[in-house]
Amino acid sequence: MPTELIVALDVPNANQIPDIVKKLPDSVSFYKVGLELYTAAGPQALTYLKQAGKKVFLDLKLHDIPRTVGRAVDSATTCGVDMLTVHACGGKAMLEAAAQAGNNRLNIVAVTVLTSLDQMDLETIGVQRTLQTHILALGELAIKSGLQGLVCSPLETRSFRQKLGQAPLLITPGIRPAGTAAGDQKRIATPATAVADGSSYIVVGRPILEAENPGLAAEQIMTELHQSEPVA
Ligand code: C5P
Repeated sequence: MPTELIVALDVPNANQIPDIVKKLPDSVSFYKVGLELYTAAGPQALTYLKQAGKKVFLDLKLHDIPRTVGRAVDSATTCGVDMLTVHACGGKAMLEAAAQAGNNRLNIVAVTVLTSLDQMDLETIGVQRTLQTHILALGELAIKSGLQGLVCSPLETRSFRQKLGQAPLLITPGIRPAGTAAGDQKRIATPATAVADGSSYIVVGRPILEAENPGLAAEQIMTELHQSEPVA
């Protein structure tokens, strides 16, 4: 499957969505709604996107008891969500409940370790193994529990692809086209590198939303994706 672009709608209210979508090429078909927008505008934030024929990646990083997460997956399905995130550290039963509730009606993907955490942070919450081992183990647990994929930093994409094979979806944020500002992202890669490493989707926010010409920025990223090849 060729690597696709997901545009992160990191804005505080739903009123801004139509303006952004109109500025971008029609070929941008997948948008991410995260905690900020969803907390402010709830399902209303999804309605415009669905009516405009777009796919929705709802990034709420669910982490609760299995029954609650299963029911939240049901609600997301009812709202027409196409992809949803959960925390892998919610454990096997929670991941299985999510996968079962999803029943292939939407893709559920797991976050392993937040990229804001380092080795010291893991130690303070009692995790003894190395950050890298912990990330790979949680990723494997999520896929074995029936989820469709993982969110991973550009530094982990290749290792996950090698460990888990071609089937899981790998969703990679932290993408910066050559020459654009990194902002607060520390582990970054270009769209071409993400394709080479085996990403299924790249998630891009500021390099598009804050560009002088967002439509052109999105076009350039999609061209780079189409011109790049995965490295076996
Ligand atoms: O603006 P930028 O391209 O950095 O946005 C990336 C998006 O991906 C944001 O919505 C951010 O919350 C999300 N994300 C991330 N790093 C992670 C997980 C999610 O940047 N590890």
